[in-house]
Amino acid sequence: MEPEQREALDESLVKIRAGRMTRRTFLERATSLGLSGSAAVSLLEACGSSSNSSGGNKAATNLIWQSEQESTNTYKAIVDTFNASVGQRKGIHVTWQQGPASTNDMLTRYTNMLRARDGSIDVLSIDIVYPAQFAASEWIRPITTQQWSNSERSAYLPGPLQGCTYQNQLWAAPFRSDVGVLYYRTDLINEAPGTWDDLTAQAQGVQHGQVKYGYVWQGAQYEGLVCNFCEVLYGYGGTVLDPNDPTKVTVNSDEGKAALARMVSWVGTISPRSVTTYMEDSSRQVWQNADAAFMRNWPYAYTLGEDSTQSRIANKFAVHALCAGGKNSVPHSVLGGWNMAINAYSPHGEQAWEFIHYMLQQDAQKKAALGAGLAMTLKSIYTDKDVLAKNPLFSQLQAILQNALPRPVSPRYTNVSDALQLRIYQALKREHSPGDALASLATDLKKIVTTV
Ligand code: GLC
Repeated sequence: MEPEQREALDESLVKIRAGRMTRRTFLERATSLGLSGSAAVSLLEACGSSSNSSGGNKAATNLIWQSEQESTNTYKAIVDTFNASVGQRKGIHVTWQQGPASTNDMLTRYTNMLRARDGSIDVLSIDIVYPAQFAASEWIRPITTQQWSNSERSAYLPGPLQGCTYQNQLWAAPFRSDVGVLYYRTDLINEAPGTWDDLTAQAQGVQHGQVKYGYVWQGAQYEGLVCNFCEVLYGYGGTVLDPNDPTKVTVNSDEGKAALARMVSWVGTISPRSVTTYMEDSSRQVWQNADAAFMRNWPYAYTLGEDSTQSRIANKFAVHALCAGGKNSVPHSVLGGWNMAINAYSPHGEQAWEFIHYMLQQDAQKKAALGAGLAMTLKSIYTDKDVLAKNPLFSQLQAILQNALPRPVSPRYTNVSDALQLRIYQALKREHSPGDALASLATDLKKIVTTV
């Protein structure tokens, strides 16, 4: 869609939200601007259903929140509560929009939309690796200290706050964090492994008749693979870029080779060959079907795994920190997470902030921790007795979060990530040896990090 068409669509959205355009005219206009019939209807529904359920309040501002994928309906319930309370009082009605399974698809969706200056989605959930890029492109609005004071901010985890900061300014509200954790079957494994070598040996041990696969993880060529690789690499004591000088590429090291060789050795042995197509939810399906002894995933898989209506391993698993590469190194999970930003092209910046602010409060944070088992950003959630009683993983998360490290930090993160995805994937598919893949990766990365 051309920018002018996008503007025309935005204009129609503003009109329909304000009750100044009929549904029919909106649909006609949207389809003439290139939207498919079903896209136009769902956009209309997002606006229309909002005004219907706002108690007939014609003055209500209708917002759309695009979240990351959330499969327990918890986000929907929190939004409903907002609409019936604060939203009702302040004349704001929010419609929640479910996200895709892969963060790469979400990025493509946002990039297309924001390049076209599309303001139809007001609140954007963005992955922890993207705030700097969105800010530099002026796609999102900064969150000022007048809106959210420093004393309020101090109640939240420092890592996610840091990840949302670019050039000393906060660009997204740290809504929820994430860390990679190791899930293991307590009916098969006596003690969680400390090293990747231990995990490999234990997985081999139980594969003889006890369980189909030893270890499932995320090996598809996408952002999740970057997380999985960094975690094994960090466990071996390696880095991608020099943390003190991000223009120096450090990935092609002995630690890098040991880590990548270890991962390659899993494909087709303790992990199925098809692990190179797995993302979070595909590995979770195999795991919940009782087909694996170990799984690397994020905390969200805990609640779903304990739900016996959909999981065959409820009450049969525990969670532990990931592994280290050798006896002397410490495991380091990668820091993930999703943050809420205001679309710079939304006409409802103020109301969007009202909603985001609500999502940061204790009530919403606790509901998301209880309902979806997400590693929220409000520190007090980790000592909340209801949360700890429902989900024992929370008692371990604080320590795991403390040792978590970010993915390589670069203003050109997307390019860095694309190079990692490609080269690591080629090694997993045995198209290149780990040594060759890392040498090519180092060359790719050098070009990226030294080009301004
Ligand atoms: C999770 C993390 C996110 C990461 C993604 C990779 O959603 O929260 O930070 O990029 O997984 O698949």
